[in-house]
Amino acid sequence: MASTKAAKSTAPRKLVDSKLPFPTRHDLDAKTRAKVADALNQTLAEIFDLQSQIKQAHWNVKGASFFGLHKLFDEIAGMLTEPVDSVAERILSVGGFAKGTVRMAAAASKLPDLPAEFRQEDIVGDIADRVAQAAKGVRTRIDSTEKAGDKVTSDLLIDVAAALDKALYFLEAYQFRGQA
Ligand SMILES: [Fe+2]
Repeated sequence: MASTKAAKSTAPRKLVDSKLPFPTRHDLDAKTRAKVADALNQTLAEIFDLQSQIKQAHWNVKGASFFGLHKLFDEIAGMLTEPVDSVAERILSVGGFAKGTVRMAAAASKLPDLPAEFRQEDIVGDIADRVAQAAKGVRTRIDSTEKAGDKVTSDLLIDVAAALDKALYFLEAYQFRGQA
C-alpha cells in the first residue's frame, strides 16, 4: 500500500503541454495566443543566447582595448536583462509556457554560436553580427504578432528591437574608423 503511494508521488509528471496555451480570461483566442507565445519564445531564446554570448565576450576579451571592450560588453549585456524578463513574462500573460533555461534557449536559437576561441580582433564584429541578426528576427515578429491581433506583444517587441538597435549602435560606434 505504501509502495503505491510512493510510486504515485515519484512518477514523472508532465507540467504543461508547452505547445498549448493555458486557460486564461485573456480575451485573445487560443490560436492567436499560441502563435504569439511561439514568437515570444523564439525571441526569448535568441536574446537570452545573445546575452550569454556577450557575457562570454566580456569575460574573455583581451588586448590593448581590453578595458573599454570589457565595459562595453557588460553594458550591452545589461541592456538585455529587462527585455529577457519582459518577454518571458509576456509569454505567461498570453497563457504560454516560457522556455527559459539556457539549454532551451540554446536549442531554439538560430543565432550562430560564438567560437570557443574567438579571434580578439573579430570579437566586436562577431557580436555586432549576432545583435543585428537578433534584431532582424524581432522586427519580423513585431509585424507578425500585430497581424495576428496582439498589439501589446508587438509593442513589447518594439522595445526589444530598440534595445538591440541601441546595442548595435554602441558596437558600430566602437568599430568606427572614420569616413572612407
Ligand atoms: Fe563582469
